[in-house]
Amino acid sequence: MFEIEAERPEHGPAIEALLDLSFGPGRYAKAAQRLREGNTAVPELCYVAFAGEGAERRMVGALSFWPVVIGGVPGLMLGPLAVEPQLRGKGCGIRLMEKGLADAKKLGYRLVILVGDAPYYARVGFGPVPPGRLTMPGPVDPARLLYRELDIGAFGQAKGPIVKARDAASPHPER
Ligand SMILES: CC(C)(COP(=O)(O)OP(=O)(O)OC[C@H]1O[C@@H](n2cnc3c(N)ncnc32)[C@H](O)[C@@H]1OP(=O)(O)O)[C@@H](O)C(=O)NCCC(=O)NCCS
Repeated sequence: MFEIEAERPEHGPAIEALLDLSFGPGRYAKAAQRLREGNTAVPELCYVAFAGEGAERRMVGALSFWPVVIGGVPGLMLGPLAVEPQLRGKGCGIRLMEKGLADAKKLGYRLVILVGDAPYYARVGFGPVPPGRLTMPGPVDPARLLYRELDIGAFGQAKGPIVKARDAASPHPER
């Protein structure tokens, strides 16, 4: 019942409306947002989900992934993920994540983190980061900082701050 497509520029306004509806204005205050500001989502890993037929067809879900360095290991941050309220609980969120994680693995990414509800994300293989192992650029409930390996063993090398990939690459990250 859902069709997943690559995000295109014309989807932008509908995605923003869906994120506002799903998270409210507080979405810009989250620690995860610090890793998105001044960063660019991986274009091949931005998705929208459509539902309905003909004139009823509309965008009902969105997911993006962001390049970060996770305690020294290049990887991705998953999210935001949002599904239109009327169509929640029908598998759209899981399908978006399964597609994105499979594509990320094909692109060679080894490790993914996110901030979210552990019981939900456990369904696609995420587990809790051991306390103190990784730090976000802002306060986060440690129970909500989750990771998933795309390459077995990748997490073993990860320790320290999670930063935007471009900051890790720059000798002068403050600029
Ligand atoms: C979270 C969200 C993306 C899930 O999308 P969805 O398409 O409804 O999810 P799915 O249909 O793939 O999965 C639904 C299942 O996950 C469960 N689930 C959904 N959110 C959950 C949560 N926060 N914690 C635990 N389980 C959750 C549902 O109870 C349902 O369980 P069931 O299959 O046993 O009935 C959607 O509810 C949403 O957009 N919420 C608002 C924005 C948000 O919170 N985004 C995630 C940030 S952490």
